[in-house]
Amino acid sequence: MRWSVTKANPVDVAGNLLVLPVFAGKKKARLEPVLELVGKGHPGLVRSVKAAGFLGKAQQLLPVASGACKGGWLLLVGLGERDALSLDGIRRAAGAAASRARGMDARTCVVGLLGAGLAGYDQQTVARSWTEGAELALSPTGELKTGGEDGAADPDTKNPRTWKLVAADAAGQRALRAGTTEGQDYAAGCLLSRRLVNLPANHLTPRMFADEARRVARAEGMRCRVLGPAQLARQKMGGILGVGGGSHEDPQLIILESGPGGRKKVPTIGLVGKGLTFDAGGISLKPAAKMDEMKSDMGGAAAVLGAAVIARRRRLPVRLLVLIPAAENLPGGGAVKPGDVLTMASGKTIEVLNTDAEGRLVLADALHYACGRKPDFLIDAATLTGACAIALGKHFAGLMSTSSELIDTLIQAGGETGERVWHLPLIDEHKKSIAGTWSDLKNLGPRYGGALSAAALLWEFVDEDIPWAHLDIAGTAWADSAGPLGPKGGTGFGARLLARAVELLVS
Ligand code: BES
Ligand code: MN
Ligand code: ZN
Repeated sequence: MRWSVTKANPVDVAGNLLVLPVFAGKKKARLEPVLELVGKGHPGLVRSVKAAGFLGKAQQLLPVASGACKGGWLLLVGLGERDALSLDGIRRAAGAAASRARGMDARTCVVGLLGAGLAGYDQQTVARSWTEGAELALSPTGELKTGGEDGAADPDTKNPRTWKLVAADAAGQRALRAGTTEGQDYAAGCLLSRRLVNLPANHLTPRMFADEARRVARAEGMRCRVLGPAQLARQKMGGILGVGGGSHEDPQLIILESGPGGRKKVPTIGLVGKGLTFDAGGISLKPAAKMDEMKSDMGGAAAVLGAAVIARRRRLPVRLLVLIPAAENLPGGGAVKPGDVLTMASGKTIEVLNTDAEGRLVLADALHYACGRKPDFLIDAATLTGACAIALGKHFAGLMSTSSELIDTLIQAGGETGERVWHLPLIDEHKKSIAGTWSDLKNLGPRYGGALSAAALLWEFVDEDIPWAHLDIAGTAWADSAGPLGPKGGTGFGARLLARAVELLVS
């Protein structure tokens, strides 16, 4: 979608629909700012609003035919109570309005964001959140639909083409422009993540993931290297090779780098994402129900790639090292077997007690590799454990970390982007729970606290002096049904969160 900003009276701007956000008051919508704009030209508005029961509640919508604006249609969208408005509240209002605009076939939408800001948020922040919300809500889903006359046509073609935000003055115009650009940058990273998560495993094998990464690297000005099986063997990456062994599709370690060359002093941040393009469980095969959703087991990889796109577009002063261990976890003649002992790149040995606990094995090699580059911060994101999803549900990712700075930063970033994280404990006892019998470590801890023993295994592969955080996004990477900020499927969780965290860490 195209985003533009004009300085005008919103009622005079050409378009199919004039969208106006409205706060909820005590018992009725707070229509005063709307009436100031259109009251004269639309005498019956208060009555229609009342008759329709529109109270300005969060995401409540009321389309009204109106002679008072150029396009002939107003769309009032509720923001809820002023004091309770969050950035996600703005995103969701924008998302609800955008979905309705699509339903109304409105190709050009004019938005009057009302005055100098909203509920204490400055204009740039409001514009950024609005843009993000609309872009996320209308996230494309039709990539593999071929269209035709049977109604199966790609719904994305019905999205509004142009959004026009209206500013009151030149300063407002500058602020709204900056906000729409920022919102588009953040949304782009999230949409890339969603697209990759939604692609089925036969359309996104580890090698195809590497091709996507190369394409992204070229477009965003990053360097990209990909290690295939021979190079993985040279690096002694027994974890990645072991997990990938059951599939005909070779595992890959994708490495993206960006940042100023030479010795310019900017921090180096390592981002590692679990890239299982499909997780059938391996020899410890998963049950059939919902196994299709395991195409989303590269949600962490999608998140770190999306975050890199955002960081590049925002020109963040950082040296980024993005690592994606990509593999397919299938049963097969070359698959690891329960009881097998793998030797990892760090030299440590792990007994594989359950081949379905594979994420930690590929991440261990990637984290070890990342530590060799001595990053100032290291963060991984992974759809790692069902246990985390059961503990925290679908609205919080688990956060386990050795660094209070990373904990604070990730909690703050998640609050701002609406991708919330919940701090879970990580102590030496968790390491003890994965001590091996026949090897240094085992890949399976006790049944209780499964997210924590998984994190502890990763911890074993992170150098002590490197601040590290682990995000378990098993519950948040996939939406079972459509919501105000996107359709069913990949949520892109983590892309905006990680980018914002990087932004906070380097500024
Ligand atoms: N990819 C799964 C975790 C997962 C489960 C992600 C549900 C998203 C939704 C992971 O590889 C896995 O299978 N974990 C096992 C670990 C167990 C064998 C210790 C699990 O959580 O059951
Ligand atoms: Mn698994
Ligand atoms: Zn998995």
